[in-house]
Amino acid sequence: MIPYFLFIFSLVALPLQGLEMFEPEEVEYIRSNFTVAVGGSVTLHCGSPPPHIFIWGFTKPGTNNNAAVAYNYGHGPKVLSTSSDLGQLSVPEDTSSLRIEGVQADAQGMFTCQALYDEEQGVRATFYFTNLSVGDEST
Ligand SMILES: *[C@@H]1O[C@H](CO)[C@@H](O)[C@H](O)[C@H]1NC(C)=O
Ligand SMILES: *[C@@H]1O[C@H](CO)[C@@H](O)[C@H](O)[C@H]1NC(C)=O
Repeated sequence: MIPYFLFIFSLVALPLQGLEMFEPEEVEYIRSNFTVAVGGSVTLHCGSPPPHIFIWGFTKPGTNNNAAVAYNYGHGPKVLSTSSDLGQLSVPEDTSSLRIEGVQADAQGMFTCQALYDEEQGVRATFYFTNLSVGDEST
């Protein structure tokens, strides 16, 4: 397990461009756009079946800083700040999804999820880039 931890930590510490260090054939990228109203709820997905290891991060528009918001290194999900200026965050049981309730305007931005599957052939990675737009309540 130790090499995985080092691998993951180096990913978390890097800005988004750092992800380019992987060979394209090792990583699958899944991009999507999502719109939610302020105060609403949204569930962002990151792999099914759930990956062995996942890390959710958030990047505000116009910045390169990818802040970790939730992760599971194989010992159960951890949400770094359940109540933040993004809304109330949780990871529903037995999933790798990020649930946001009471979505705040500051949740507008790019949610990233790095999903790692530990398979016989090696580690397979899928990176999700979910662009969340937060509208006002009337939209
Ligand atoms: C997301 O929205 C952007 C801007 O409107 C668009 O360029 C892009 O193709 C969209 N991506 C997907 C996966 O729909
Ligand atoms: C994210 O969505 C917004 C609103 O739809 C759009 O203006 C922006 O271009 C999108 N960004 C990306 C990286 O797709």
